[in-house]
Amino acid sequence: MDKQKRILLSKRPEGMPERNHFRIEEGPVPSLGENQVLVQTVYVSVDPYMRGRMEDTKSYVPPFKLGEVINGGIVGKVVSSRSTHFSAGDYVTGHLGWQEYNAADENNLRKIDPESAPLTAYLGALGMPGLTAYFGMTRIGSPQEGETVVVSGAAGAVGMIAGQIAKIRGAEVIGIAGTEEKTRYLTDTAGFDKALNYKTEENLHEALKDACPDGVDVYFDNTGGPVSEAVYPLMNDFGRIPQCGAISSYNKSGDDYGPRIHPYIVKSRLRLQGFIVSDYAREFESGARQLGSWLQEGKLVYEETVNEGFDSIPDAFLGLFEGKNLGKQLIKVSEE
Ligand SMILES: NC(=O)c1ccc[n+]([C@@H]2O[C@H](COP(=O)([O-])OP(=O)(O)OC[C@H]3O[C@@H](n4cnc5c(N)ncnc54)[C@H](OP(=O)(O)O)[C@@H]3O)[C@@H](O)[C@H]2O)c1
Repeated sequence: MDKQKRILLSKRPEGMPERNHFRIEEGPVPSLGENQVLVQTVYVSVDPYMRGRMEDTKSYVPPFKLGEVINGGIVGKVVSSRSTHFSAGDYVTGHLGWQEYNAADENNLRKIDPESAPLTAYLGALGMPGLTAYFGMTRIGSPQEGETVVVSGAAGAVGMIAGQIAKIRGAEVIGIAGTEEKTRYLTDTAGFDKALNYKTEENLHEALKDACPDGVDVYFDNTGGPVSEAVYPLMNDFGRIPQCGAISSYNKSGDDYGPRIHPYIVKSRLRLQGFIVSDYAREFESGARQLGSWLQEGKLVYEETVNEGFDSIPDAFLGLFEGKNLGKQLIKVSEE
């Protein structure tokens, strides 16, 4: 085992990225420095925010560098260790390179317990997307019993958890997603009260108006764009909008203006707040504990789309922008 596969950013996209923006190549398996751990990649997470990192612009995370290995959330198995904290056979999660093996600093890894939850959950419902849903919904959306909550991108990793948290809080929850399979999952499995397909509704605004006869108190927004424009006029006075993401614009170049939101914000005294999950980093442990209890109590369910094989990582990432995933999109790279 001296060679491995790895994936580099080969050029920066304008608009929708394509397969040729990534390069798969062979490289050496890294040797370990002091306090480092050799981690074999088992599951790779692909996430929409990585699209922003493909561009050389200022954001809350630095851009990927051209010609360097892409990195993101990974669950892996320790194969050898020069750290006193980790031993061969331990399962870990961390922010690591898209390669089959990483030499990781012990400080960048967290041990995870495969007995208390499936390994994949640490990249989804119990990981970054679950925590995003938890803090965005409970701290910013803050739904009250009997209020109406709308979630866009509702059948994705964050959206399906956000909607269920609002249900736990006693709200009426309406999800918006892009296929019939997804809307069916939301109502039949995830316990949403109603779900609408934004791709097939002739007039999404009118359909939402019917679905939300008392207006909308909380709009957990993952998408922005035309979906959000259908929701804004329905917001009730003092409504809250946790602005979690804006995936509809991630592949747009140039200005992309829709109807102006400002009159709605003033007229209905709305509070729209962008947030990044890391804003709540100090509370991750308690958030994960709460999500874990809800999972164990059966109050929370989640779904995953797991593609197989290291070479399928770029396509799985691109698929996020075509709505190919139901729930968390992962890639299985090696056996558990
Ligand atoms: N603020 C934070 O800290 C934070 C953390 C994690 C994620 N996020 C954001 O939260 C959102 C969801 O992330 P996720 O990881 O849960 O991804 P995801 O929802 O699992 O996957 C992306 C989904 O977005 C939908 N989509 C793609 N293009 C769209 C478009 N033009 N209009 C409407 N929907 C579109 C697709 O579903 P359909 O079939 O329904 O179109 C796709 O399945 C993203 O915007 C992401 O950037 C923010």
